[in-house]
Amino acid sequence: MKKIIAPSLFSANLAFLYRDIEMLNQSEADWFHIDIMDTSFVPNISFGFLFTKYVRKYSNKPMDVHLMVLQPERYIEELKYCGTDHLHIHYEACIHLNKTIYSIKKNGMKVGVAVNPHTPIFLLQDIINDIDFVLLMSVNPGYSGQKFIHKTYQKLEDTKNLILKKDSSALIEVDGGINLKNYSLLFKNGADILVAGTTIFSNSNPKEIIHRMKLEN
Ligand code: DX5
Ligand code: ZN
Repeated sequence: MKKIIAPSLFSANLAFLYRDIEMLNQSEADWFHIDIMDTSFVPNISFGFLFTKYVRKYSNKPMDVHLMVLQPERYIEELKYCGTDHLHIHYEACIHLNKTIYSIKKNGMKVGVAVNPHTPIFLLQDIINDIDFVLLMSVNPGYSGQKFIHKTYQKLEDTKNLILKKDSSALIEVDGGINLKNYSLLFKNGADILVAGTTIFSNSNPKEIIHRMKLEN
């Protein structure tokens, strides 16, 4: 278990984006999580290429990009050019998932496959050895500040079992509704990476929240 914290910039104060990037640079956060939405796969719109490039320019940690768009294969090269280190695409948004995974790898990025709360984990059995991360959505994607879906604990268990069975080296990332009450149990139950937005950025001392989440439990 790695215990990586990836704050989601979707909850940052965009009027003070540079300040929030600097805060994360100086914090114990491991990665920057960037949520890209297209209004079709999810009912919201967020950041694009320019934003991603700007974050890359000022951040000093790996950029973990979560692509919530249909046909994500259209954006792989552009996102590499913007400085993406890890690119997550949604299982539900890809017709040719295998081809898309290899295209991301060919472009020199680590690859994650994200699954919505309704998607069963056994559907990943034929690609689990080809990917670096499984991104378990613990809310329905599209918005920050939502309630954590409790069934995620079962999904975590299913993912761990699949990884063990297939002898895969994929890490498990959980995204959505992470707070100070559930982060510890998620790490204990096998999550390697936690993405948190509201819990970190709505606090008056975000660095302290990140510090607490990084502490051994
Ligand atoms: C949801 C995004 C999440 C979101 C997390 O669609 O993928 O990364 O920003 O925000 P919180 O932690 O507020 O649920
Ligand atoms: Zn996300």
